[in-house]
Amino acid sequence: MLDGKRILLIISGGIAAYKSLELIRRLRERGAGVRCVLSAGGAEFVTPLSVASLSGEKVYSELFSLTDESEMGHIRLSREVDLVVVAPASADLLAKMAAGLADDLASTALLATDKPVLVAPAMNARMWEHPATKRNLRTLEADGVLRVGPEAGDLACGEEGEGRMAEPAQILAAIEQALPGERPLGGKRALVTSGPTQEAIDPVRYISSRSSGKQGHAIAAACARLGADVTLVSGPTSQPDPAGVRVVRIESAAEMHAACEQALPVDVAVCAAAVADWRVARPRGHKVKKDGGPPKLELVENADILAALSAAGNRRPTLVVGFAAETEKVVKNAVAKRARKGCDWIVANDVSPRTGTLGGDRNAVHLITADGVERWPEMSKAAVAERLAARVAEHLAAARDA
Ligand code: CTP
Repeated sequence: MLDGKRILLIISGGIAAYKSLELIRRLRERGAGVRCVLSAGGAEFVTPLSVASLSGEKVYSELFSLTDESEMGHIRLSREVDLVVVAPASADLLAKMAAGLADDLASTALLATDKPVLVAPAMNARMWEHPATKRNLRTLEADGVLRVGPEAGDLACGEEGEGRMAEPAQILAAIEQALPGERPLGGKRALVTSGPTQEAIDPVRYISSRSSGKQGHAIAAACARLGADVTLVSGPTSQPDPAGVRVVRIESAAEMHAACEQALPVDVAVCAAAVADWRVARPRGHKVKKDGGPPKLELVENADILAALSAAGNRRPTLVVGFAAETEKVVKNAVAKRARKGCDWIVANDVSPRTGTLGGDRNAVHLITADGVERWPEMSKAAVAERLAARVAEHLAAARDA
């Protein structure tokens, strides 16, 4: 996987810089070429000589060094690679990246690159928890910067908490994931629904569900990483927009339905949203006052978007995937749901409070297809998304060859 790949490794200041030497060794063992930029802070912790010896290449450190500029401009330095990795990424360098500053070689290369960037933060736990760092990370995430770690544990400064750089093995796995590799969904169009919907009672109140949008957003991101042209139709969530995805924000089920129709034709539709089954028949145009006593709400059923996409005739996506949120008889109910809605696959998850699925980061699902029921081990929602996207790619390739 890494054979022949080129990595630009930026080592910024921090005690974790010593782990980057191990990272260089492992990358080279796997056949990757590693060119390193050592920031002034980084050079306080590891020597240019050790970095050069391990990488087998010249180490770059000075923005205005004439020799560096004549041999390799900082723009070329940041572009003649497949991936830029920042490990360790100090709080200071993350702040510079978020602000778009370019006052040394590391930050200039990061601003000039057109390649994916993966950061492995390392810092004191208080610095990691600081609202400024959190804000910078949100900005970087929205810019499409990938991240691995940090981990919790004993920190070099004697304190405990989150802030320890991820181990080289973890960073290696993240590098393999981040490398632009095969794009098996290249040329395919995907529609993903995510999050809850809100059905207005009056201008201030609504009916909704506990969906966080984490699973749906992760699926949109995973499909985009495999090369699909993705439209994500999402109800209100606090999830950041996934990189490289067209996001259509809606509130009600009716708006979600209309946005999905608009996104057609697509090759695959994945309905991960927790669509409200009912809406208020006549939402009030003004705030309902308490003096009249509790209002009597008449509810009417919303259109079923998944069922509608499954029955869209010649506009039907090649593959329609639904979710089933169940709290009992998970598989039995999900199998029945697949038949009732006319979709191809159902991803069934147990959303009972004891599972922590709703709003949590992990999921244990069953994939129900025409061929039967597959039980997937519990994993992160991101991993469920990767695996599902890979299965979608396989299925579409088989459908094309059939
Ligand atoms: N769904 C949809 N439109 C709706 C309701 C649900 O597209 N109006 C989709 C969801 O996105 C999900 C699937 O249908 O992919 C199943 O949703 P779920 O809430 O599990 O089932 P319901 O159809 O609501 O049935 P029930 O509430 O009886 O379990």
